[in-house]
Amino acid sequence: VKKQVVFSAIQPSGTITLGNYLGAIRNWVKMQDEYSCIYALADLHTITVRQEPAQMRRNIIDAYASILACGIDVEKSLFFIQSHVPTHAQIAWILNCYTQFGELSRMTQFKDKSKKHADNINAGLFTYPSLMAGDILLYQADKVPVGADQKQHIELTCDIAKRFNGLYGNVFKIPEGFIPKNGARVMSLQNPLNKMSKSDENVNGCVHLLDSPEVIMKKFKRAVTDSDACVRYAEGKDGVNNLMTIYGAVTGKTFEEIENEFAGKGYGDFKTAVGEAVVEELRPIRERYERLVADKGYLAECYRKADEIAYKISSRTLDKVMKKVGF
Ligand code: ADP
Ligand code: NA
Repeated sequence: VKKQVVFSAIQPSGTITLGNYLGAIRNWVKMQDEYSCIYALADLHTITVRQEPAQMRRNIIDAYASILACGIDVEKSLFFIQSHVPTHAQIAWILNCYTQFGELSRMTQFKDKSKKHADNINAGLFTYPSLMAGDILLYQADKVPVGADQKQHIELTCDIAKRFNGLYGNVFKIPEGFIPKNGARVMSLQNPLNKMSKSDENVNGCVHLLDSPEVIMKKFKRAVTDSDACVRYAEGKDGVNNLMTIYGAVTGKTFEEIENEFAGKGYGDFKTAVGEAVVEELRPIRERYERLVADKGYLAECYRKADEIAYKISSRTLDKVMKKVGF
C-alpha cells in the first residue's frame, strides 16, 4: 500500500519555540514511519514581516539545524527550504486568482498581524494563506500536522482546492488538518491569553528550544499563575491551565493525574516540576543542535538533496494546474 502523504512547514522567523515543538514538530517526528512526510522551512512566508537579511540567513540555517535536532530524519523524510523551490511562488500566484478578497479578509491571523505591524500591511501578509494552500496542495498531501492557530488556514486551503477541482476536475487532493490533543495551543508564560510566539515581546513569556536549562527554569519560575493556590484545570485559570498543558504534553500525564500529583502542594513545586520536565525534554535536542550547526556542509547537503526532490514532486502538480488553467 502507498503511504499517505503528510505535509507541514514552519517559518524561520526566529528561534523555534516550545509552542512550535509541542504543537507541530513533535508530531512531524512521530509521523515519519507511518507516512510519507514532506516538511518545509517556509521562508517565503517570513518576509511578510520585514527581516534583516544577514539575520534572516542565520535564522534559516538555525531553524534547519534545530528541526533536524528534534528528530527529523532526512533518510525517512523530505525536509527542504521553500524559497529554493520555485513552484511554490508560481502556484501561489495562480491560487491568488482563485481566492476571494473576502475570504482572506476573514483570516484572524491577518487581522492580528496587521494590528501588530500596522506600518507594513503588505499584500503578502494578506495573501499568506494562498501561498500556504499552494505549499500543501503541490504535494497532494493527505494530512497536515499543525497547531490550533492554523485551523482556519487549513480550512481555507480545502475551500480553494474544492473550488479549483469544481472548475477543472480532480486536480488537488483535499487535505485534512491534524491538530494534537495536547499541546496544540501553548500560551505565553507571561500573558496566558496570547499564544506563545517567536515574536513575543516579553522575553520571559516564550521558551525557546535552545534556551539553557537555567533560562528555562527561570522562565517557568516567573510564569504567571493566580491567587487560587491550587493546581487544577478550570476556567479562568489560564496561567495554571497552560502550565498543566505543557506538563501533560511533555510527560504524557492527564490533567487528573497532574492534579493528584500536586494536591496540597504550592505553585512553586509545580512550576519547578514543569520546568524540570521541559529541561529534560529539550536537553538532547540542544545537544544534537550544537553538533549539527557546526557542520554547515552537512546541512547544505541535506537541504540541497531535499530541494531537488521537492521540485520534482511539486512540478507534477504545477504542470497539471497550468494546463487546466489554459497556459
Ligand atoms: P510562529 O507562530 O511561532 O511564528 P509558525 O507560524 O511558523 O510559528 O508555525 C509553525 C507551527 O507551529 C504551526 O503548525 C503552528 O500551528 C505551530 N505553533 C506556533 N505557535 C504555537 C503555539 N503557541 N502552540 C502550539 N502550536 C504552535
Ligand atoms: Na503561526
